Amino acid sequence: MPAPNIDTIVSLAKRRGFVFPSSEVYGGLGSAWDYGPLGVELCNNVKQAWWRWLVYERDDIEGIDSSIILNRLVWKYSGHEATFNDWLIDCRKCKGRFRADKIVDNKCPSCGASDWTEARPFNTMLQTKLGAVADDDPAALAYLRPETAQGIFINFLNVQTTMRRKLPFGIAQVGKSFRNEVTPGNFILRTREFEQMEMEYFVSPTAEHSKLVDYWVEQYLEWFGSLGVNRENLFLYEVPGEELAHYSKRTVDIMYRYFPEREKPWEELMGIAWRTDFDLGTHSKNKLDAEGKRLNPDSTEDLSYFDEAAKQRFYPHVIEPAAGVNRTVLAVLMDAYSEKTNDKGETRVILKLSPQLAPIKAAILPLAKNKPEIVGMAKAIKRSLQPVLRAVYDDTGGIGKLYARQDEIGTPFCITVDHQSLEDEAVTVRDRDTWEQERIKVSDLADHLQKRLKPFPVPESI
Ligand code: GAP
Repeated sequence: MPAPNIDTIVSLAKRRGFVFPSSEVYGGLGSAWDYGPLGVELCNNVKQAWWRWLVYERDDIEGIDSSIILNRLVWKYSGHEATFNDWLIDCRKCKGRFRADKIVDNKCPSCGASDWTEARPFNTMLQTKLGAVADDDPAALAYLRPETAQGIFINFLNVQTTMRRKLPFGIAQVGKSFRNEVTPGNFILRTREFEQMEMEYFVSPTAEHSKLVDYWVEQYLEWFGSLGVNRENLFLYEVPGEELAHYSKRTVDIMYRYFPEREKPWEELMGIAWRTDFDLGTHSKNKLDAEGKRLNPDSTEDLSYFDEAAKQRFYPHVIEPAAGVNRTVLAVLMDAYSEKTNDKGETRVILKLSPQLAPIKAAILPLAKNKPEIVGMAKAIKRSLQPVLRAVYDDTGGIGKLYARQDEIGTPFCITVDHQSLEDEAVTVRDRDTWEQERIKVSDLADHLQKRLKPFPVPESI
């Protein structure tokens, strides 16, 4: 049973230190969220799982970390300055401002009227000014990147030559992106500041691009499965021609059931696009248009690739799986949410997070906190586990309460130290999902826990 709605996760996230509304002491800032002690661990675990899966476990992907603020020309030639627009309309009655494509049945979502202004474009790149310049100096204008992808394209040759790569190969990057969204909302689903995990996979112009899109869709379905996202809560959306971005010949969105309570429950979790040779071509000094004119007179580099075997030079095509960290975290939390009733008839929340993602892997709980030998042994076990996995010590309640607290934040293992532990050098390991308990020797504990923290799946290379 996944969470019945996003609100259930909002309240759990705030109550247990995953996500807090940002700037609360000043009344908040619309649609901005801060990740608390458990939230930051969960986000890091998602990003590390992704990085390990693509960069470490495969042989064909390198990682980079490019600047958030790039030369403004990057956004001119990528097409973002001209086309990264939302279409805005205003309600003449209540003066509300909305995205034209989100209006249902031509009715104002605030007042129900149908009296609209003409739609006009609004560029959603967030602007800033560089240096100590006058407010109106146009040369100082810069943007906070709206996607991590462009930092990869402009570094294509740097990575390819320094790492001596041959096609096909990919470049992965994870980091913050910014969009001045007109209507952000739904918790961490749509915010103005968010994190992306993008990978640009460079292939020959004669590769089977559509099959490669299918391949990456399958890979990601499997990966989301390994994070505990149920396949039934994912839906594939083949983006129709009229909705494709200017660079794309084909895009498949993987949607997640973020709104199980609604008639239309799906929202985009990620997209997989065939971006053709648009990106490397558009940033290259030698690419010509149909009339033989240079497309980009500002570029000083040519991002083409020489294929030794075919003795041909060309601009590689790109298959791009682009996922959001925050949307992945929200999907993972919603699918991990469950409730269970104990012998006393009390309903408990259990967050069945995949052990690899759980913020805390093991909680060490002394059964008698007034017995120094037991407390000492529990603290020593916590310290011995800490270099291998994230462990915490807690003695701030009765054992039932401590178990419930750990279940609610998804800790896979609770380890209790009792009087007998002092005699037999063993502890009780309790499983979060089954509530079953087993006795394990302290000397075997780290090995035992590591074996039960599921390994990552290894995808086949193409
Ligand atoms: N480079 C291609 C690209 O950026 P996108 O579909 O605009 O494609 C990719 O973004 C992913 O980034 C989305 O599927 C979503 O997971 C995440 N994302 C985009 N805008 C977002 C926002 N305002 N808030 C949270 N996540 C967002």
